[in-house]
Amino acid sequence: MEQRRSDGSLRHLITLEGLRRAEIEALLDHSQRYVCLPGATPPTNRALAGKSIGNLFTEPSTRTRVSFELAGRRLGAEVLNLEVQLSSRAKGESMLDTIHTLESLHFDAFVIRDSEPGVVAHVAAHVAPHVSVLSAGEAHLSHPTQGLLDALTVRQHKGGDFSRLCVAIVGDIRHSRVARSAYEVFTALGVGELRLIAPSGLMPASGEFPVGKRHFTPETGLRDADVVMMLRLQKERMAAAEIPDGEDYFARFGLTQPRLRLARPDAIVMHPQPMNRGIEIASDVADGPQSVIRDQVRNGVAVRMAVLEAVARARPRPS
Ligand code: CP
Repeated sequence: MEQRRSDGSLRHLITLEGLRRAEIEALLDHSQRYVCLPGATPPTNRALAGKSIGNLFTEPSTRTRVSFELAGRRLGAEVLNLEVQLSSRAKGESMLDTIHTLESLHFDAFVIRDSEPGVVAHVAAHVAPHVSVLSAGEAHLSHPTQGLLDALTVRQHKGGDFSRLCVAIVGDIRHSRVARSAYEVFTALGVGELRLIAPSGLMPASGEFPVGKRHFTPETGLRDADVVMMLRLQKERMAAAEIPDGEDYFARFGLTQPRLRLARPDAIVMHPQPMNRGIEIASDVADGPQSVIRDQVRNGVAVRMAVLEAVARARPRPS
């Protein structure tokens, strides 16, 4: 699915694959202008005044849904969260019929999270030319705005020269859309070293993540890392027999203070959330001085404001 217009501008955001480094850096620069420190009044403007945005999430979400909603509202748009289970989707209406109904009601953009690969691109291929579609998480494949907010968070703490950084992604990489989008954005930004740390059953298939160096224990993989990105066990994408025992998993892969001490002393700890404390991360690490997890959440609104504005820019008027 082509996510650009014929003039090369971004019309949809379905994946970070194919975004150029300069484009990503411009989005991060724009996002940074919207970052709001705790206690400050969030920046607002009227860039999307008169526009309507529909959030359609068929999987649960707290952060992505709320921050897309806040992002749209802070840009002056009208935002509607369609309660999918209360909509006519529950009576068998197809996603496209739902979308076309909302288009008739003058929606200009749709933010979609879906567990099925390809749904977001399918919708994007069938909407009217003036409508944009943004992925809020597609199956295990892609979570582009999460990738951008992760890159923004790293840049805030470690500076813009990613070639100096060693990033370790730890946990259930096989089922993680967060890891795939992190891979896209960090490699596009020229990361110095990328490590994948997981038990063999949670490592992605060979051929995926070609630049990543694979480690099967945190003891080898975390050594001297600058960024430690922890992932949740995504049980919803595992067969019952594949789900690791939580206690055993924490003993072998959980991020504890002793394991964190293997990384550089100034390493930052990230987690996209929701997190399972005591399974992939110890509470004293998640809440400790090296954790930037709350910054990630804060950056989510800023990134989503920048992305909504980027796709709205140069949008042709409906005929
Ligand atoms: N990081 C993330 O996607 O969180 P939510 O599932 O709460 O949106």
